[in-house]
This record gives sequence, C-alpha cells and structure tokens, in this order.
Amino acid sequence: MPAERDVLLTRLARGLAHEIKNPLSTRAINLTLLEEDWTRSGEPNPTERRSLKRVRTLQREVSRLEGILDDFLRFARGGEVNRSPGDLVALVREVLQFMDPEMTANSIAVHAELPSSLPHVVIDSGAFRQALINLLVNARQAMPGGGELIVQVRRHGPSVEITITDTGVGMKPDQIENCFDLYWSTKKGGTGLGLSTVSRIVAEHEGSIGVVSEEGRGTSFTLRLPLLQEVAGRSGESEDLA
Ligand SMILES: Nc1ncnc2c1ncn2[C@@H]1O[C@H](COP(=O)(O)OP(=O)(O)OP(=O)(O)O)[C@@H](O)[C@H]1O
Ligand SMILES: [Mg+2]
Repeated sequence: MPAERDVLLTRLARGLAHEIKNPLSTRAINLTLLEEDWTRSGEPNPTERRSLKRVRTLQREVSRLEGILDDFLRFARGGEVNRSPGDLVALVREVLQFMDPEMTANSIAVHAELPSSLPHVVIDSGAFRQALINLLVNARQAMPGGGELIVQVRRHGPSVEITITDTGVGMKPDQIENCFDLYWSTKKGGTGLGLSTVSRIVAEHEGSIGVVSEEGRGTSFTLRLPLLQEVAGRSGESEDLA
C-alpha cells in the first residue's frame, strides 16, 4: 500500500539522517581540535595558515550538512499530531499579532477579515501556528519593497477557509507546479521545506491547500479545514483588524 510504503520510507530516511549525523559530529569535533592545534602555537607560518583555511572551510561545510540534516529531521518528525477542538480565529489573530512587527518593519499593511464566531476546528495549535507562520514569512519575503497582506477566514459549508494573499512577486506556472515539492526553493539560502511542511500539517488535519498566483501581481494560498459540526456558532460576520 502506498501509505505503508511512505511510512517505511520516512522511517528509513530518518534512520539514514541519524546515521549520517553521528559521524558528522565526530568530524566537527576533530576539526575543532585541529583548529586549536594550529592556532595554539602562536603565529602560524604560511603552510599552517593555508591548512587552517582548509580546516575552516571543512568546518563550514560540516555545519551546513548538519543544518540540512536537522531541517530534514524536523520535517520528518511530523505525524506526531496532538489535536483538540480549538478556536481557529483566535489562533490566526495571535499569529498576526506575533508577525506584526516584522510586517510593519517591511512596510507591509496587514488586513484581516475574521468572522466574529465560528464552530471549533479540531486542531494541533502548535503545528498549525507553524503552518501559518511559514505562509506569512513567504508572503513577507515575496514583498521586499512592501505591499499588502490580506488574511481572510471564512466559513464554507462544513469547512473553514483561510486565505493568505500577498501583493508580491508572484509565481510563474512552473513555480506554482513545484512550490510544494520537498527542497524546492528559488531563494538564496531557502531550504524549500516551508510549503512541504504546510501541506503535511494541512493533510494531518484532513484539510487541503491550494494556490493561485500571477507573476508580478501576487499570490494567494487557501487552506481548507473541516469544522467541528457539533459546536454551533454564528459565522459570516467580518471585522477588519487593520
Ligand atoms: N507567497 C509567495 N510568493 C511567491 N513565491 C512563493 C510564495 N510562497 C512560496 N513561493 C515559492 O515557493 C518556493 C518554496 O517555498 P518554501 O516556503 O517551501 O521554501 P522557501 O521559502 O524557498 O525556503 P524556506 O521556507 O525553507 O526558508 C519559494 O522558494 C518560492 O519560489
Ligand atoms: Mg518559505
């Protein structure tokens, strides 16, 4: 079964990442000791200086590889969801408050359209918070010269829809196709794990994610999650927090 195969592959990949991490940290320790040897005995001669430079290059490379493995392990650790009925609107409001200084510093005006009440959603607040932050950070990075961020939460029949729209650089059709792929990034220093993590978290909540984007105009990500039907509530009323 594909699902069993996925679980097996994830377990293997986690095991492999751990196996690589251990000898890598031994290398890091030995490189530090080497560096100490070369710097301890006063001013190094030209040969020692060259060797020291190489040791430092190796140290940087080792820590880059450690970083890649840490990111991967953080991603692969997914699946340990801890869900309970929660107030999605309060969570969105809290994340927007948390991100507000970063948005203001980047000349981004934030508009929130949140319903005054909504049935609860069975949610892992920590994981979902992470998903929202990943989307908001992407939106901020897509608007280097400032812009507008619109966050809407709407009831849609038995589901709730969260839409995050930016007026940023947008994406070409091939970018839209690839953006959820693991390790796919167009950014210098980007890991390409942000959106993969978001789609994993959304799937763990039995939800879905979609994207609409136009190069040079902006991007809109929509998350859809099932509402907890037993808890009745009014919906449809909007408030503008901006
Ligand atoms: N709001 C957006 N506007 C334009 N392009 C986007 C947006 N969000 C994502 N992308 C594109 O999708 C790619 C993948 O995004 P993802 O969040 O997975 O990785 P990243 O942002 O590049 O790196 P990381 O999140 O690990 O720092 C980005 O590199 C970018 O090309
Ligand atoms: Mg990202």
